[in-house]
Amino acid sequence: MAAVVFEIREMTAQDYEEVARLWRNTEGIGLDDGTDTREGIAAYLARNPGLSYVARHEGRVVGAVLCGHDGRRGYLHHLAVAQAHRQNGIGRALVEACLVKLGSIGIQKRNIFLFSDNEPGEEFWKHIGWNERGDLKVLQKPTPSGCSGIKSTR
Ligand SMILES: CC(C)(COP(=O)(O)OP(=O)(O)OC[C@H]1O[C@@H](n2cnc3c(N)ncnc32)[C@H](O)[C@@H]1OP(=O)(O)O)[C@@H](O)C(=O)NCCC(=O)NCCS
Repeated sequence: MAAVVFEIREMTAQDYEEVARLWRNTEGIGLDDGTDTREGIAAYLARNPGLSYVARHEGRVVGAVLCGHDGRRGYLHHLAVAQAHRQNGIGRALVEACLVKLGSIGIQKRNIFLFSDNEPGEEFWKHIGWNERGDLKVLQKPTPSGCSGIKSTR
């Protein structure tokens, strides 16, 4: 079988429409009403320049991943490859591009968040060498809406 040709490019804000369509059509991807908007993704890309990638086949986006860091840890989000283009090395190539870039700026530890019921996704990550941290849980507390600063009554 002939190898599938695809190219990995840095994601730009202009990719939003195609990338959002891919995410919306991909199982296992949970989109957030606030941060996954056009403006939210543009802000994320500006805060984490050159770290997120798209895969294109014949000019069309067939894969995407968001990547950023907080100065200590790198995070990959929303890795997705279109159904028809899976098992061609695109997912692995997108992850590798992120890891190389994170390494080049000194971020050696990288994390992903995975829905607990996403078994195929988990199999993929483990297959490409990622390990589960069974000693950690993710806890979250959203900021109340309208809250923009810290007030102390003491
Ligand atoms: C997970 C996903 C990104 C994989 O993309 P892909 O392009 O098919 O993956 P690749 O072709 O790069 O696969 C790399 C290796 O992992 C293996 N692999 C791919 N999907 C796998 C799976 N579900 N279970 C086990 N192994 C898997 C491939 O066989 C390949 O193995 P090899 O290199 O030893 O031959 C894709 O299936 C997807 O978009 N899933 C839905 C979204 C999702 O769950 N994302 C992850 C959560 S954020």
